[in-house]
Amino acid sequence: MKLTSLVSSLTALASICSAAATTKAVPASVTFDNNRRFLFDTDGRQIDAYGAKINNFNGKYYLYGNSFSETGVAYGIKSYSSVDLVSWQYEGFLFDPSGKNNPCAGSGGCGRPHIVFNANTKTYVLWANAGAPGYAVATSKAPTGPFVFEAHRALIDPAFDNLNPADFSVEVINGEGFIVFSALNFRDPRAGDVWPPIFQNMHVSKLTADFMNTTRQSWPVVSSANDLIDNEAESPEIFKVGSTYYVAASNTCGYCNGSIALLYRSNSIQGPWTRQILEGYSCNGQLEGVLPLTNPTTGNVTNIWHSTTVPGGPRTGFSGHTFQPLIFNTDGSAKNLDCSSTATFPVEFTKGNGSVAAGNATKAGDATPALAVYSPVCDSDSFILYQTWTASKSGTIKSVSVNVARGVQTVPLSLTVFKLSSINDLFTPEYKWTPLGSSSCFANQTSYTFDTVTVPLINATVSQGELLGFRLQGADYSPWCHLEFDTKEEACAGNFRLFQQGQGQYSWRGLQGKNSPVYERQGKSVKFFATYA
Ligand SMILES: *[C@@H]1O[C@H](CO)[C@@H](O)[C@H](O)[C@H]1NC(C)=O
Ligand SMILES: *[C@@H]1O[C@H](CO)[C@@H](O)[C@H](O)[C@H]1NC(C)=O
Ligand SMILES: *[C@@H]1O[C@H](CO)[C@@H](O)[C@H](O)[C@H]1NC(C)=O
Ligand SMILES: *[C@@H]1O[C@H](CO)[C@@H](O)[C@H](O)[C@H]1NC(C)=O
Ligand SMILES: *[C@@H]1O[C@H](CO)[C@@H](O)[C@H](O)[C@H]1NC(C)=O
Ligand SMILES: *[C@@H]1O[C@H](CO)[C@@H](O)[C@H](O)[C@H]1NC(C)=O
Ligand SMILES: *[C@@H]1O[C@H](CO)[C@@H](O)[C@H](O)[C@H]1NC(C)=O
Repeated sequence: MKLTSLVSSLTALASICSAAATTKAVPASVTFDNNRRFLFDTDGRQIDAYGAKINNFNGKYYLYGNSFSETGVAYGIKSYSSVDLVSWQYEGFLFDPSGKNNPCAGSGGCGRPHIVFNANTKTYVLWANAGAPGYAVATSKAPTGPFVFEAHRALIDPAFDNLNPADFSVEVINGEGFIVFSALNFRDPRAGDVWPPIFQNMHVSKLTADFMNTTRQSWPVVSSANDLIDNEAESPEIFKVGSTYYVAASNTCGYCNGSIALLYRSNSIQGPWTRQILEGYSCNGQLEGVLPLTNPTTGNVTNIWHSTTVPGGPRTGFSGHTFQPLIFNTDGSAKNLDCSSTATFPVEFTKGNGSVAAGNATKAGDATPALAVYSPVCDSDSFILYQTWTASKSGTIKSVSVNVARGVQTVPLSLTVFKLSSINDLFTPEYKWTPLGSSSCFANQTSYTFDTVTVPLINATVSQGELLGFRLQGADYSPWCHLEFDTKEEACAGNFRLFQQGQGQYSWRGLQGKNSPVYERQGKSVKFFATYA
């Protein structure tokens, strides 16, 4: 037998063997950019998880973060799962946030949650920032919960007993557990009337073998400067590349519109640490985590820096996420983040096991593009909107779902779905459309993030190419918000077009008396999907 054919037989044999193994790593790729901030679940709802952390548990990706949808502030922790880092399936709250046995109602709000899996005890351990002392810990046998809180706190270095433990990250590095946390000092006499409001410093400790506690010995994560940048460090993350430990962080910000991007490195968790500022505003965001992705073909790991991004401020629920790979230099330093709007970041990674999740939105008959760049628009105080599209197929439409976020409205939002014979009908006085269904809802039936409002349709039989539309109306002092994308930027079938009518405008306008009160919002379209029977 020739050597080449022997090699090819062996290769064929090897591939048969590895195909038989259930844990064969499947390569996949994903492309991130700086513009597409909002993530949606497979049912079309905005992913309601801020200060997010993504873990690979048991071969699947899980995204965890605080929910802001129900109360407008951090309220409980939600999880989502994915095999391809694009389709995310909602997995519910990790525990009942209204339950009596969780500590999240108080200070800390269980902000920036992190979970570690302990391979010895086969337990997922959730760490939560919930006031002092130390941290609250909860356990579960599954990565999506339910998590049950322990009666006892995980305690930190007694040196910080008089400070407030705050933002933190727990991680497993080569089987060992670590925590990096910042301790807030509200009594530091250097605090300013304008800023800084507080001083906080980061520290690193090892976890006990069960990952339920810290060893209570800590080392500061501080640069030789030991300046206000080190003294306002928060939202930390810890990871290791080769023999170098890294702590990524931001500066005092609180889900703001842009905080410094910090990266500390050292060959020992005891320091000394070398500090870099990788970006002045973290691409208009604040670091939330670093996600290691392994290319199964080369074994190379790409560490993805990800942030909670604009707008910040009280409407944290309107924040999205951005992702980009960290690129390291030979001396262990990292290159600056690339915040340009044209940057794209293709990454090879290991596909999660199981099938790609599907839901009402991914299975919808007609839908605006899943991966468009969507932006919040809040203007129902000024405009009635008419969104039109053409039916992609003949059939019966069961419902139309639109992403809407509440404020403090007292006037309900109303949605009416209709059929038109032509776009011109919208400009024509006395025209009557064919109604297909309508619904209205009060603010308390919607949420502070872009959940969907669904209009059920009755006997909505449509033919392919027929012109359909819905009206979005809800005039109040506080406008309702929806999502729009730029149709010119997207290759999409569906003839999505958006028309607007100023509130109170029900008559001809213009010097000739020929201008319709309804006119096009050029190049824009409202995010929605329609489900066929
Ligand atoms: C998913 O992959 C992990 C790791 O390879 C494996 O342990 C686990 O059994 C797999 N789960 C399923 C449902 O295939
Ligand atoms: C952590 O350790 C401290 C000190 O030993 C102990 O009091 C506390 O109960 C422990 N907490 C947990 C969750 O094990
Ligand atoms: C938020 O970020 C954008 C983009 O950099 C900037 O134009 C805007 O001024 C920032 N807003 C605040 C309140 O800092
Ligand atoms: C894997 O990473 C190493 C170190 O960065 C690099 O030298 C090598 O080219 C990478 N391999 C591939 C196939 O990208
Ligand atoms: C999905 O659609 C079904 C059928 O219209 C509906 O009953 C269900 O509530 C929807 N689920 C979600 C999560 O929107
Ligand atoms: C929801 O809001 C409406 C209008 O303000 C009010 O009439 C209704 O009682 C509220 N429902 C609940 C459950 O709070
Ligand atoms: C819907 O269509 C069915 C069958 O044609 C008819 O019996 C029913 O009355 C219709 N319902 C409505 C509300 O129009």
